[in-house]
Amino acid sequence: ASVTVETDVLIVGSGPAGSAAALFLSTLGVPNVMITKYRWTANTPRAHITNQRAMEIFRDMRIEDQVLADATRHRLVGDTVFCTSIAGEEIGRIHTWGTSAAREADYRLASPCLTVDIPQTYLEPILVKNATMRGTQSRFSTEYLSHTQDADGVDVQVLDRLTGTQYTIRAKYLIGADGARSRVAADIGLPYEGAMDIAGSMNITFKADISAYCNHRPSVLYWVIQPGSNVGGIGAGLVRMVRPWNEWLIVWGYDINDEPPVVDEAAATQIVRNLLGMPDLDVEITGTSLWGNNEMYATHLQSGRVFCAGDAVHRHPPSNGLGSNTSIQDSYNLAWKLAAVLKGQASPSLLDTYSTERAPVAERIVKRANKSSREFVDLFVALGVTEAKTEEEMVRQIEERKANTPEGAAKRAALVKAMELKNYEFNAHGVELGQFYESSAVVSDGTPRPEPTRDPDLYYQASTVPGSHLPHAWVGDNKRKLAMMDLAPYTRFTLITGIAGEAWENAAEKVARALGIDLATVIIGPGREITDLYYDWSKLREIDESGALLVRPDKHIAWRAAVLPADPESALRDALTQILGQG
Ligand code: FDA
Repeated sequence: ASVTVETDVLIVGSGPAGSAAALFLSTLGVPNVMITKYRWTANTPRAHITNQRAMEIFRDMRIEDQVLADATRHRLVGDTVFCTSIAGEEIGRIHTWGTSAAREADYRLASPCLTVDIPQTYLEPILVKNATMRGTQSRFSTEYLSHTQDADGVDVQVLDRLTGTQYTIRAKYLIGADGARSRVAADIGLPYEGAMDIAGSMNITFKADISAYCNHRPSVLYWVIQPGSNVGGIGAGLVRMVRPWNEWLIVWGYDINDEPPVVDEAAATQIVRNLLGMPDLDVEITGTSLWGNNEMYATHLQSGRVFCAGDAVHRHPPSNGLGSNTSIQDSYNLAWKLAAVLKGQASPSLLDTYSTERAPVAERIVKRANKSSREFVDLFVALGVTEAKTEEEMVRQIEERKANTPEGAAKRAALVKAMELKNYEFNAHGVELGQFYESSAVVSDGTPRPEPTRDPDLYYQASTVPGSHLPHAWVGDNKRKLAMMDLAPYTRFTLITGIAGEAWENAAEKVARALGIDLATVIIGPGREITDLYYDWSKLREIDESGALLVRPDKHIAWRAAVLPADPESALRDALTQILGQG
């Protein structure tokens, strides 16, 4: 007899998107099953740059300390080097991920967390462990085969790869977090723009202690310009730290129109020695793989009761380090909405806002990452190596930057500009943090989003215009230092006001009871639960002390009132009714 297992949400995939979705749903008390095709989580380091928004999410989930324990800390991530090889000539450095003195303030002002480096092989087990401890049923070696949906749920056919048996999982909702070759996305026919496999890359993982070349310029990325560096790949040759400073991953390109290269141990060792510039180095090759660079995003992310998240809907090179971060953020947007609908607190129409809010993010990051990868060309042009036919010619061109000649001077000037451009890959704070949502789950107060005062890709601009992320400030009291985000946990809606707005508290209690939702009021001011310790919040909130900000579980501002209205209860009820699609 065929077996049917029932659950509320079935998640396909245990990558960053899937394991995060499981963790969020379990944290919210939603029954869920997570299936994944293989025996265990990612078997190669893959994504590693973990940006401030992702770290904030881990802070919100109370697993930030676990992530930090396994991560390479901020101070070691960002002295990024461009060179002819690790032991060879240095062409230049750029402070990345907010580590320059000039940019660090922007990053610290924007978030309680800093960018760190944690490879997927370390991050996924943390997410899976915490999800499973909190309630997720994790099923490894279990493959998604197909699904059908009806008015009340989804029947998913799965294969237990250990026993070869197939069974059905009946879920109210299905999340396809099954990566760049998503079968779930194909089965619901999601529409895409762009193309897959536009360039070829190979990954080579290896062990070699090269501390002597890294201690004084610690970075997770060392970019190498050598013959072949501009063929395929992600912009240039890359030597990427996996663990400081003895475990590494090389990304090297190949022409996708040629036969795929054979990367055996001898070939891999040669590539490692070339990029390191250490012809006799003892190397332990631990793995090799070929992969295609993609420039593709879905323009719609869901169909009925089925949602796709992560690489299933945005496929792009690792440039800007957005893959895993965005995947986790997709699930953070989706999970609280599913929970609200499953608990009867919101109408199913709330779920439509997932695609409305996240599809523009998918497009933006796919375009940014590909643009960044292509912008390496400027560095090659500045060095004059794009036309170099031979290795000698390339070396001569790179040497020319040292000459006291007009050509040498022109090259030096061009290098300044080309290096400056790389800020769009490595310090694109606006892309990393500046996500803004427009949907029915955000109620506009008629004020437009402020015009950016600086480049919106490079600089994040805090605001409380509905749709923005809650700005960061440190608050608390004489015993605790808290971030603004800590006041608005994922498990509820939070109304933030000041002492002159204390009447909101009573209004919020009544609205919460009437709508059957979890909503708490936080009054910020001297002598209250939370004090604006540095008087920063008063300058950031953009509303009167008596006004209020309604913060969603995912920290985006759903609605705001500039001042306390005559009838705060009905103002708040109207806003929440619209956001939740009730009434
Ligand atoms: P992800 O691909 O991580 O996970 C998909 C999950 O679905 C897996 O658990 C898989 O087992 C499961 N699955 C797939 N089909 C299934 C089925 N039919 N049934 C059940 N389960 C199924 N990024 C970066 O920033 N820097 C980097 O260096 C790299 N390097 C890199 C190397 C390789 C080899 C890959 C594949 C990817 C990268 N990436 C990367 C990209 C990065 O890994 C990616 O952005 C995130 O992992 C996306 O997370 P997802 O959870 O969306 O998919």
